[in-house]
Amino acid sequence: MLVPTEKKKSMAAASPQGRWAAAYVAVGCALGAALLLLCWDSPVVAGRVLRAVPLQRARALAGEEKPKRGHEKAPAAASPQCNVCPDRRFDCAPEKILTKEQCEARGCCFVPPGSRPSLGQPFCFLPSNYPSYEMKNLTSTERGYSATLSRTFPTFMPKDILLLQLEVRFETRSRLRFTVRDPAKTRYEVPIETPPEKGSAAQKLYDVHFSDNPFGLIIQRRSNGLVLLNTTIAPLFFADQFLQMSTSLPSQYIFGLGEHLTSLMLNINWSKVTLWNRDASPRPGGNLYGSHPFYLVMEKDGSSHGVFLLNSNAMDVLLQPTPAVSWRTIGGILDFYVFLGPEPKSVVRQFQDVIGYPFMPPYWGLGFHLCRFGYTSSNMTRLVVQRMREAKMPLDVQWNDLDYMDGRRDFSYSLKNFGDLPDMVKDFHQKGMKYIIIVDPGISSSSPPGTYTPYDDGLKRGVFIMNATGQPLIGKVWPGPTVFPDFTNPEAFNWWRDLVRNFHAKVPFDGLWIDMNEPSNMVCGSMDGCPDNELENPPYVPGVVGGSLMSATICASSKQHLSSHYNLHNLYGLTEAIATHNALVDVLGRRPFVISRSTFSSHGHYAGHWTGDILSTWEHLYYSIPAVLLFNLYGVPLVGADICGFSGNTEEELCVRWTQLGAFYPFMRNHNDENGKPQEPFVFSPEAQKAIRKALNLRYTLLPYLYTLFHKAHTAGETVARPLFLEFPSDPNTWTVDRQLMWGEALLVTPVLEKGKTDVTGYFPPGTWYDTAAGTAIHSKGQWIILSAPLDSINVHVRAGYILPLQFPGYTTEESRKNGMYLVVALTEDGEASGDLFWDDGESLNTFMKEDYTQILFLASTNVVLSKLIHVNSQVDGLTLQLVKVFGVPNPPWKVLVNGVSSSDFSYHLDTKVLSVENLSLSMGRQFVITWTYS
Ligand SMILES: *[C@@H]1O[C@H](CO)[C@@H](O)[C@H](O)[C@H]1NC(C)=O
Ligand SMILES: *[C@@H]1O[C@H](CO)[C@@H](O)[C@H](O)[C@H]1NC(C)=O
Ligand SMILES: *[C@@H]1O[C@H](CO)[C@@H](O)[C@H](O)[C@H]1NC(C)=O
Ligand SMILES: *[C@@H]1O[C@H](CO)[C@@H](O)[C@H](O)[C@H]1NC(C)=O
Ligand SMILES: *[C@@H]1O[C@H](CO)[C@@H](O)[C@H](O)[C@H]1NC(C)=O
Ligand SMILES: *[C@@H]1O[C@H](CO)[C@@H](O)[C@H](O)[C@H]1NC(C)=O
Repeated sequence: MLVPTEKKKSMAAASPQGRWAAAYVAVGCALGAALLLLCWDSPVVAGRVLRAVPLQRARALAGEEKPKRGHEKAPAAASPQCNVCPDRRFDCAPEKILTKEQCEARGCCFVPPGSRPSLGQPFCFLPSNYPSYEMKNLTSTERGYSATLSRTFPTFMPKDILLLQLEVRFETRSRLRFTVRDPAKTRYEVPIETPPEKGSAAQKLYDVHFSDNPFGLIIQRRSNGLVLLNTTIAPLFFADQFLQMSTSLPSQYIFGLGEHLTSLMLNINWSKVTLWNRDASPRPGGNLYGSHPFYLVMEKDGSSHGVFLLNSNAMDVLLQPTPAVSWRTIGGILDFYVFLGPEPKSVVRQFQDVIGYPFMPPYWGLGFHLCRFGYTSSNMTRLVVQRMREAKMPLDVQWNDLDYMDGRRDFSYSLKNFGDLPDMVKDFHQKGMKYIIIVDPGISSSSPPGTYTPYDDGLKRGVFIMNATGQPLIGKVWPGPTVFPDFTNPEAFNWWRDLVRNFHAKVPFDGLWIDMNEPSNMVCGSMDGCPDNELENPPYVPGVVGGSLMSATICASSKQHLSSHYNLHNLYGLTEAIATHNALVDVLGRRPFVISRSTFSSHGHYAGHWTGDILSTWEHLYYSIPAVLLFNLYGVPLVGADICGFSGNTEEELCVRWTQLGAFYPFMRNHNDENGKPQEPFVFSPEAQKAIRKALNLRYTLLPYLYTLFHKAHTAGETVARPLFLEFPSDPNTWTVDRQLMWGEALLVTPVLEKGKTDVTGYFPPGTWYDTAAGTAIHSKGQWIILSAPLDSINVHVRAGYILPLQFPGYTTEESRKNGMYLVVALTEDGEASGDLFWDDGESLNTFMKEDYTQILFLASTNVVLSKLIHVNSQVDGLTLQLVKVFGVPNPPWKVLVNGVSSSDFSYHLDTKVLSVENLSLSMGRQFVITWTYS
């Protein structure tokens, strides 16, 4: 979806606007009067009559002399109306703390900190009549509206753009897009190719209204008139490096705006969410590795909508109890998508219609992965694989961290410690396993000339990010001084592919792990620091960890092919993921497998993600659930956290519980830091090993179902791991559940997340749920239920009405894919259920498009379970169905017929009501019918 090959838009921030005519128009404000009634208890600050800013002075302040800061003088002639409800106050001092005098000089209202009723609420806030833009010349276009927005008075930010162009487009019946641009100058826009309008928007689910003065856009759900967005609630800011649009929210149930260490639902109590990709140890509140400027809201009646701001600049998103959200970005344009759902699942799909559906991972990628920083030799790595097999633990993919490299340089390996690396990889392949290595974007720049091709060649081909003086910017990563490839340069794609190809010819790895790609830098900006300019020190710095844009990364003003790093920073991981995805497709000719730390919207189309350097703690075990669920909402279903935790020492019980939950991460990897105590499955006590082995076998058993879910994500924009509310939107109890997760529509997972616990409480939406192990039923009215949870098991329930395609486990997916299959049929009270299986060779490209796959439907009704072949290819040959377990069979069957032939190989348990038809040998490629009769 990304178009790195053409220079789409110009560099960064636009230059100052020319002159404008200042007119002293008092901006009318309906808001003030309305709030006066509502805010009987709010402190009212005596309004001060402010002087109008003389024209000459306004010009001087407004940018003709390149002021560092904005206008500290009041913009409006009217006296500020300060009777604003505390919850509805919008910050008038976003960039620094102001005194009362400074605040009032801006034309704003000041309520001293002491009288603040709640933390985080601004005490210097915009009056309800603060000047905004006025809308003019609203015209209908073929698919929407266009209008001009003009501002008479400058704001307190430098370089206001006083004349703007608004475009509103009805893209589909459920998707609306609106943009605000500078008509006089092309500004940077995110180079993601967005899809064209689809079909007619005639039956559209939304209505759009406007407020002229102050300008506001109001979007309502047509079916019930609910106001989903109202941007009239606060003034629009559109300065060169400060763009802010606020909108009301119809409820407090808001999800998204990653990546952060967070619960599933966002806190609207004056929280500030910062998006600026950064290498950091995850902590609540801090900006992390990825940026996904998308949120989803649950409306009171269970409908849902989503909003995506297609903007890659550093930004803060502010949430306040009104409830309202303010998007505050420091560059680019305002480019909003609104998705009307109305089901939350549809919102996620509509979002993915814009950013791209997830790539299809190879089947082996869904097996178990094992890694640590500190496997310091190939012998040690081989030993780990051997011990896994001795302990009878499934393992598909062995990884190496930095250790394999020569001097920690990419595309090299240590002859001393990993001299037989090529043979090691071949040996793993012989075992039916795969092998993955880490690669960082930082390319060592300090090797003697002529000794390190990646650098020498990259220099020749001009693929590195440049600093202010036009030379490759030098930072510091693991190998020491390093340069950074610019993956917005098409030549960098070619260079990267050549490196992948040449290294693969030596070491036949199967996938790549791209780390440190925020990009992370161990010096601030560069070895030479950063220049002092408007990109390094913008008038407003979002709430980034470290307080400055250059913190832990490269200079914002460094230059990339498409634009400044200031604009492109948040896309670094995405662009590297695309380059890596494409390189692997070219080199391997098979499905690529790429796991990346840094991400941006549309990442899932190319690669997966792990949640970074989390801690080996119970708390981080919990946080991994919302992380995995949210990345599924962002269209990155191939996601997981480091099982047993990364930093610090894990403990046996934690590691067992983590592996149980980890069996339900779509991407399942145990990964440890260099200094942590070992945490491979085989290092623990026999009981712990038994529990871990059981969890791994459960994972492998479920792989056909998981793979089918990935196929649906890939072809239909579905999620794989999903929050309960996606399946039960009309049950508000599910909206905040983030200590459980679902796989697809059918499985509900309730892990233990606390030390020393052998029971767990989980929410069960209304309906019947069967324990997958025993087949016993829970009939829930929509309630919290205490489940027994001994250390060796995890609670997994299947929802009545669904059929799961399963397979007996093996040590690798190469083995398990040849094993017998079985079905779990979970009947409703009416005796019905359905499910399906997608199957192909597990690694070829575009099998669905090329129709080289098998798809089978399974249906159950009135004492019959049968299959229906939707599509069949030769991959299904040799695959046999050996077992069918039917949950919820009310009475003991008397007779079972398999394809019309009576079978005696069945059993029925009166207590659990489970019917098992065993010893089958049915070819999956042929239709089967199993029936039973009661005496
Ligand atoms: C609005 O349209 C009129 C007539 O086309 C034009 O004269 C005027 O300049 C426009 N105003 C703005 C603000 O674009
Ligand atoms: C939008 O917000 C403005 C300002 O708060 C308010 O006056 C107006 O009534 C709102 N419009 C709708 C349709 O809610
Ligand atoms: C929000 O703040 C209010 C007042 O300080 C408090 O009562 C409430 O519990 C907070 N809500 C959340 C979700 O933190
Ligand atoms: C690895 O093991 C082989 C065979 O045991 C041995 O010859 C070799 O020296 C070992 N290499 C290292 C780096 O330990
Ligand atoms: C740019 O990088 C080069 C090294 O490639 C360095 O010598 C020079 O000082 C840097 N320029 C600035 C402005 O940092
Ligand atoms: C399946 O076959 C095995 C071995 O022949 C036998 O022991 C078992 O009882 C059979 N299962 C049923 C339910 O009849």
